[in-house]
Amino acid sequence: MKHTVWHHLNLCAQGDPEQTIRDAAIAVRDGQIAWLGASHALPEEYGTWPREDLAGAWVTPGLVDCHTHLVYGGQRADEFAQRLAGVSYEEIAKQGGGIVSTVRATRAAEEDTLFRQSAARLEPLLAEGVTAVEIKSGYGLDLASERKMLRVARRLGERYPVSVYTTFLGAHALPPEFAGRADDYIAEVCERMLPALADEGLVDAVDVFCERIGFSLAQSERVFEAAERHGLPVKMHAEQLSNSGGTALAARHRALSADHLEFLDEAGVAAMKASGTVAVLLPGAYYFIRETQLPPIDLLRRHGVPVAISTDSNPGTSPATSLLLMMNMATTLFRMTVPEVLQGVTTHAARALGQAARHGTLAVGRQADFAVWSVDTLAELAYWIGRPLCARVVRAGETVHTRRGA
Ligand code: NIG
Ligand code: FE
Repeated sequence: MKHTVWHHLNLCAQGDPEQTIRDAAIAVRDGQIAWLGASHALPEEYGTWPREDLAGAWVTPGLVDCHTHLVYGGQRADEFAQRLAGVSYEEIAKQGGGIVSTVRATRAAEEDTLFRQSAARLEPLLAEGVTAVEIKSGYGLDLASERKMLRVARRLGERYPVSVYTTFLGAHALPPEFAGRADDYIAEVCERMLPALADEGLVDAVDVFCERIGFSLAQSERVFEAAERHGLPVKMHAEQLSNSGGTALAARHRALSADHLEFLDEAGVAAMKASGTVAVLLPGAYYFIRETQLPPIDLLRRHGVPVAISTDSNPGTSPATSLLLMMNMATTLFRMTVPEVLQGVTTHAARALGQAARHGTLAVGRQADFAVWSVDTLAELAYWIGRPLCARVVRAGETVHTRRGA
């Protein structure tokens, strides 16, 4: 049995900076939180446990990055240069670049190479206090390559101190061998790929890119129905480049989340509220494709839809490896408040994964996954740009990362 009392810390247990405890303590037994609260109220039974002094630092739940495409081969810096010269993301996709160019690189990569390239993108997230991450497939687009991606995602979760949740995104783009036969590809996704990968235990949720350059409403619904046959929750890349009504469909299928949402309308917002679907906003993608249509933040607020913030880490629209930077961008670009963005990377992000009982909040009985921050106020988490603020990451009660010099 291992016991530790972490003390001399300021605690933000709910991810809400308006509910904090100054001079707090957390008692951890065998990786789980046995008690937390104000130091002066620490029950006697914990008084003899070994102590770790956090020198007045702030502690939040481990951060949750709930929407990433971290696993892929290569990069798309050339395409970025093309976009800088004025070609749009959609035009590049239509010319056979975009997602499909990453599909070529991902198919060609050995599994170990893919693991190494992906680990290099995961490490900076972990150094920033991320203890749970979602990773999507969707750059394989055939059974063997999707399996390879999902296996790499699972291996990352075994090799690194982070909980990995995998999402099958077979319906991300039409692979070239199915050109002109999107319905046949959807049949392949639903009848062959998903059943095999789900049976192998590689899939925690199912996602669809519902868009002019992705899949139609009818095709998306077929994928959702297939997911339901396997008892898997669904989510959707929705209203990213246009309003296609995907969100309402996702809500009808009780989706965990609808993501991007720049073109979402009020009917879609109301549908999300009714179904308890989380809005995942992705400021990195908004910024990187120089989108000008803002997601409907005020409508989401007014209807009380929980909003999560994530990196969308991917080679085409958000080559981001910093969740703190996304918090900064969500405040500056989307005019979200500090409490909103902090909950967006903790409680609400955990809920977007269907894992609110496990991540995003610190409470008695839960695994002790937390981040220790060298800041005077929590607002600094959204304020600094590019500064390494995370002094230490604790997972299941063990220190798994310490910033150099901290
Ligand atoms: O989240 N929208 C579709 N999928 C990704 C982009 C993928 C890519 O361009 O490689 C996104 O933006
Ligand atoms: Fe995405």
